[in-house]
Amino acid sequence: MWSCLGLTSLLIAQSTQSPIDKPVESLRFSEDGIFHISILEDLHFGENAWDSWGPEQDVNTVTVINRVLDKESPNLVVLNGDLITGENAFLENSTVYLDQMAGPLVDRGLAWASTYGNHNSSFNLSRSDLLAREKRFANSRTEAMVSDHQAGVTNYYLPVYGSGAHHRERNDMPELLLWFFDSRGGVYYQKRDASGNEIPQPNWVDVSVVEWFQATNADLVQKHGKHIPSLVFVHIPINAALAVQTQHEVDSHKEPGINDDYPLAQQGQNWCASGEYGGSCSYAGQDELLMKALAQTHGVIGVFSGHDHGDTWCYKWDKAISGIRPVNEKGINLCFGSAYGLRGVRDLDSGFSTGAGDAIEAEGW
Ligand SMILES: *[C@@H]1O[C@H](CO)[C@@H](O)[C@H](O)[C@H]1NC(C)=O
Ligand SMILES: *[C@@H]1O[C@H](CO)[C@@H](O)[C@H](O)[C@H]1NC(C)=O
Ligand SMILES: *[C@@H]1O[C@H](CO)[C@@H](O)[C@H](O)[C@H]1NC(C)=O
Repeated sequence: MWSCLGLTSLLIAQSTQSPIDKPVESLRFSEDGIFHISILEDLHFGENAWDSWGPEQDVNTVTVINRVLDKESPNLVVLNGDLITGENAFLENSTVYLDQMAGPLVDRGLAWASTYGNHNSSFNLSRSDLLAREKRFANSRTEAMVSDHQAGVTNYYLPVYGSGAHHRERNDMPELLLWFFDSRGGVYYQKRDASGNEIPQPNWVDVSVVEWFQATNADLVQKHGKHIPSLVFVHIPINAALAVQTQHEVDSHKEPGINDDYPLAQQGQNWCASGEYGGSCSYAGQDELLMKALAQTHGVIGVFSGHDHGDTWCYKWDKAISGIRPVNEKGINLCFGSAYGLRGVRDLDSGFSTGAGDAIEAEGW
């Protein structure tokens, strides 16, 4: 779990009995100038639904979420992918788990925003059905802003406005942008090839999304006459994360956190340059356009991923990595959250050893 931009917050109206009717308010910094985000990664609901172990883990995961939210009062909760274990899902109820996950957030009247993950066989779990399930709750800010049929679903941005009357009057100037990208993966919903096999879906952010990001950001820069500080959430990490881990040595003193998934799994893994999916292909640069776009966008200060359950560090990408250097001279923080589903139980017992520095102060950027 990550607390960005500081430690405390208030904001977002307390619990309401009827979340569905709750008017959607703009996301806003608190009066003390803090916008607090709690990131929940890899909750993996619905695992082994057919035995007692799976449902027990879901109950434990809800307990972990409740404990986190008892300690934190975030302005926004980000569910950063692998909410549900798709390959264990049953067609008739695959999105029902969203309600269980949403419970602690709805109880507290918290807004949330999701990215979807790869997990895995989405043969029985449709990304758009999951979004439809989310949209039954006004608390969900998840959107689908890119309509290209290869784009996946959770590609969108959320503006965060300043607090105070001055900002309320001119609600058109965001102080912070939150970008959410769908790194896809898994297999296509209810599709089989001629031999009856499930069809794998590419596991990187689609080019249509990269183009949308660049065009939309350029419009915002032009409209507001400045580069707006931006955070990016994407389930599967970009290749730069693997490069810093393996070539620049993530150092447990300088980048505190767990580094158990080594080498980490990244976008494009197991996909060949030819477009074939297969076990042993080396990395073919599928996310290079995305990395370049992130590096060239002045406002980007952090990219948050999950997927690699054993990694929780942050690394500041401020030099050329794989030949790409961020234009923002303070660099881009490449960060992992910690998997909360299943593993969360262990964290619960050990008092939440969530690893890497929980707070990134705005000044540090
Ligand atoms: C979903 O359906 C499966 C199979 O019928 C069942 O085992 C499981 O308990 C159901 N899950 C929920 C949340 O209803
Ligand atoms: C999909 O759901 C159906 C109906 O619940 C179930 O029989 C089947 O095993 C599931 N398929 C996969 C690939 O999980
Ligand atoms: C499905 O998940 C398994 C285990 O996590 C992984 O080995 C496999 O590569 C995944 N398949 C796809 C198509 O992503």
